[in-house]
Amino acid sequence: MSKASPEHSKFSRTLVTAALPYANGPLHLGHLAGAYLPADIYVRYLRLKGEDVVFICGSDEHGVAVTISAEKEHVSPQQIVDRYHAINKASFEKFGMSFDNYSRTTLPVHHQTGQEFFLELYRQDILVEKSEKQLYCEKDRMFLADRYVEGTCPVCGNSDARGDQCENCGTWLEQTQLINPKCKICGTTPVVRETKHWYLPLGRFQKELEDYVNSKKWKENVRGYVDSWLKEGLDDRAITRDLHWGIPVPLQGYENKVIYVWFEAVLGYISSTKELSQKRGDPSLWKKYWQDEATRYIAFIGKDNIVFHTLIFPAILMAWNKGGKSRYILPDAVPANEFLNFEGKKFSKSRGWGIDLQDFIDIFPPDTLRYALALNLPESRDSDFYWKDFQARVNNELADTLGNFVNRTLQFIQRYYEGKVPPRGELNALDKWAVSQMEETPGRVAGQFENFKFRDGVVDAMSLARAANKYFNDSEPWKTRKDNPEQCATTVNICAQLTRSLAVILSPVIPFAAEEIWKMLRLEGTAAQSGWNTAAEMKVESGTEIGHLNILFTKIEDSTIEEQIKKTASGESAEQPAATQATAPIKAQISIDDFRKVDLRVAKVINCEKVPKSEKLLRIEVQVGEDKRQIVAGISKHYKPEDLIGKSVIIVANLAPAKLMGLESNGMLLAASTDDGKLAVLTTASDIDSGSIIR
Ligand code: MF3
Ligand code: ZN
Repeated sequence: MSKASPEHSKFSRTLVTAALPYANGPLHLGHLAGAYLPADIYVRYLRLKGEDVVFICGSDEHGVAVTISAEKEHVSPQQIVDRYHAINKASFEKFGMSFDNYSRTTLPVHHQTGQEFFLELYRQDILVEKSEKQLYCEKDRMFLADRYVEGTCPVCGNSDARGDQCENCGTWLEQTQLINPKCKICGTTPVVRETKHWYLPLGRFQKELEDYVNSKKWKENVRGYVDSWLKEGLDDRAITRDLHWGIPVPLQGYENKVIYVWFEAVLGYISSTKELSQKRGDPSLWKKYWQDEATRYIAFIGKDNIVFHTLIFPAILMAWNKGGKSRYILPDAVPANEFLNFEGKKFSKSRGWGIDLQDFIDIFPPDTLRYALALNLPESRDSDFYWKDFQARVNNELADTLGNFVNRTLQFIQRYYEGKVPPRGELNALDKWAVSQMEETPGRVAGQFENFKFRDGVVDAMSLARAANKYFNDSEPWKTRKDNPEQCATTVNICAQLTRSLAVILSPVIPFAAEEIWKMLRLEGTAAQSGWNTAAEMKVESGTEIGHLNILFTKIEDSTIEEQIKKTASGESAEQPAATQATAPIKAQISIDDFRKVDLRVAKVINCEKVPKSEKLLRIEVQVGEDKRQIVAGISKHYKPEDLIGKSVIIVANLAPAKLMGLESNGMLLAASTDDGKLAVLTTASDIDSGSIIR
């Protein structure tokens, strides 16, 4: 086991967290590049160094991001988070994110933790109760918390700023600062009304936060944001909301309010670690990571999360620590990345721009994306994912450089040495050069990783593969095999050492391929357990019998890439006339059994009316065989009630009921729609009884 570098020597273990993604939609490549991949590379590296580390994540399941998705899909918030928690957890696993725990903020352990913190700050008299002006939508009859309102950012002019934050410039907003605010649900301009909330008085922590921030050496991009907020001065911030979905405020008179999602989500790191303690049967494990000064805490996030992790979360922990109950440690580093764009533009689900992780994994192996993203991480400024660049990285670097070297080395051993690594003789100058490359590279890569320069670290690691190929070429073993067998054996032996070394230093980035190499070399244990520093050593014994050889990376055909470009990066055409409109990508295949779960029926519209105070909704009564039911559908911009009465439409009859503007909807009406807003309700081509099954 290696010693930690002197700078960090006061620490004896590391806590690594990665931002808890909202469980309101599938993850895309940008998420991976923003926080999760660098965090995973870092953690895998620390584990290889033999350090004590836990890697914590989970789903952020509260907040308006979730309730808006639920409303859009006409299901309950719980259904949304159940679905996306499962999908996102599975995607992370497939891409090799090696979390020690992936929790959920809807779990009791988290609700308790959130309320405990809230009450502790309340008891210490830190929280302030105020009645203040908030935006209220008279149509929807609700206060427009956070993402329920959109408007223009007063700082950067971005017209899609939300009620609590502008994603473009990172400013943390109070909703009343928005210019030209609009209700996200109905599009009307909200009014201002008074409501009571509890506030976190950040100003009281300004000095302490400044001292804290000044004591750290943070990345420049992070420091830039933090300094500008501190310079502006910190204000009181409301930490309760007029919503139903979330952690209930544990105080009388606040029964209909919840704790602000950002106040509790950051505490999700703590509750996820508590859950890990429970799973491991070690109840005090979490305290070791959160309440011991010997733990170094690193929080990986994307840039839109910076204020919450550099100021708000630390302030909450400082406030707790004042109570004297116990002391939490604060983040030592917050290596936030900027954003990853897709082919020159922001990822956009609605415009069909980009690709989700779950779709990517169906086509390409996880290591190809991990590698390409690692070399393109938005570490100091926004970066772009381009399909062509991805293809070039995979073909030229993974296949032609790394794969080729490993393959030719192992094949040579197989063919000319009966599958056994030959012994080394005396080293010539070229051999010594190759060995020195092997000895020096791990330290260089480690230095980069420890400074959160993952791009540079991966470039350095890959340069060893280039050096190895050059060594193979220049040594010409195919010649020396005949005229200098001892030299040939030495060359091949050193190539085997280089192969092992590459597996070790690349395993944080391409863990699947690293283990594949390990198996082909028939080494003991796994690459992940090999020990970082052994990458500088000649660990492969001569006589080692290698295993079955597989191709590490296959090249990606031009046609495959063209197809992806067409599917994922032609969303812009959706804004052009229908003739050139791009077809949305076809979803992943399902079985006939999957399809049979959906109970589609013919339903006859017997009554229909506009839902008062709503621009979009129609209340539709339908006859389904003997049954009558009510369906609420957002189609009133396209159909008048009298257009539909008497029609035979198609409904999903076994959809869980949902409430829309207080009205129960039992089922869903099928309609076709385009991205540019056209819509047509499905009807039957000829008359048939209502209740008929569609199959
Ligand atoms: N859900 C937030 C997002 O996706 C991140 C939350 S990070 C945590 O932007 F601090 F709350 F955990
Ligand atoms: Zn509204």
